[in-house]
Amino acid sequence: MIDSLPKAELHLHIEGTLEPELMFSLAERNQISLPYKSVDEVKKAYQFSNLQSFLDIYYAGAQVLQTEQDFYDLTWAYLERCKKDNVVHTEIFFDPQTHTDRGVQFGIVFEGIDAALQDGRKQLGISSHIIMCFLRHLSAEAALDTFEISKPWHQRMVGVGLDSSELGHPPEKFTEVFDKARQAGLKTVAHAGEEGPADYIWGALNELKVFRVDHGVRCLEDESLVQYLVENKIPLTVCPLSNIKLCVFSRMSEHNLKQMLDKGLCVTVNSDDPSYFGGYINDNFHAAQQGLGLDNQTIYQLMRNSFNASFLEDVHRSEYL
Ligand code: HPA
Ligand code: ZN
Repeated sequence: MIDSLPKAELHLHIEGTLEPELMFSLAERNQISLPYKSVDEVKKAYQFSNLQSFLDIYYAGAQVLQTEQDFYDLTWAYLERCKKDNVVHTEIFFDPQTHTDRGVQFGIVFEGIDAALQDGRKQLGISSHIIMCFLRHLSAEAALDTFEISKPWHQRMVGVGLDSSELGHPPEKFTEVFDKARQAGLKTVAHAGEEGPADYIWGALNELKVFRVDHGVRCLEDESLVQYLVENKIPLTVCPLSNIKLCVFSRMSEHNLKQMLDKGLCVTVNSDDPSYFGGYINDNFHAAQQGLGLDNQTIYQLMRNSFNASFLEDVHRSEYL
């Protein structure tokens, strides 16, 4: 049932789909030396103790992405996985600052990703949107600069998001750039309540006016927040395997996804950074189903939630509901 049902993916960092094999071939193509000798050695390095220990390796891996073709190949490989997993719609994040800060121009990144998404629509029948994320460990000014240089591409993105090191970087640090994004007609989402406290989810809602919360698993620590999220039908894009790999929960049987659903929250299942966390979207569904004993009706509800929580226009959304 999981594998065959059509689904939407709403929390996916395209840089996090970089498989070790592609990392090696791009390193060779671009004559970059990697600190690993083999694909196996890369995979062995993927042991994380928290979000930061992952981010250090993830940003290092992204250095092999240099040309428009590299970003095309990365995105195309993900779309082929989508086809396999019956993902019919995807809303992908990209982190421009990871690339512009090392001299790769914004347009190289965006055009490579977008060309693959356009081909994915035509050749694979997969619809998609792009969400530009600001790195929260960098300054508010740096986010504003990125927003300025990205202006020529705003029409071709659906929204902006916020990711990277959460603790110590609350959402309100980015109120100004999110205000500007909304004025430009972009929708807003933000990572909040992954490692950070429930207060950061309030910050994302009140200051950044987000439509969705990415992760948000710590919302259960605040009963009035849960009530607000339920009443306002704010979706939470949960990433089960990511949460285990980054030690947010010690094992899947302890994940709070089922409790979140039982409280009436609009939860979706997503893969986050599948190459680093050991699985794409169907793997996440299977792992959550096994670990938490989810029945078929719950799986079906999660699939429906993925379309309801998406930025698809209603005419397209209704095709799947
Ligand atoms: N959290 C924060 N930043 C990220 C993540 C995540 O799960 N993945 C890629 N960047
Ligand atoms: Zn994420």
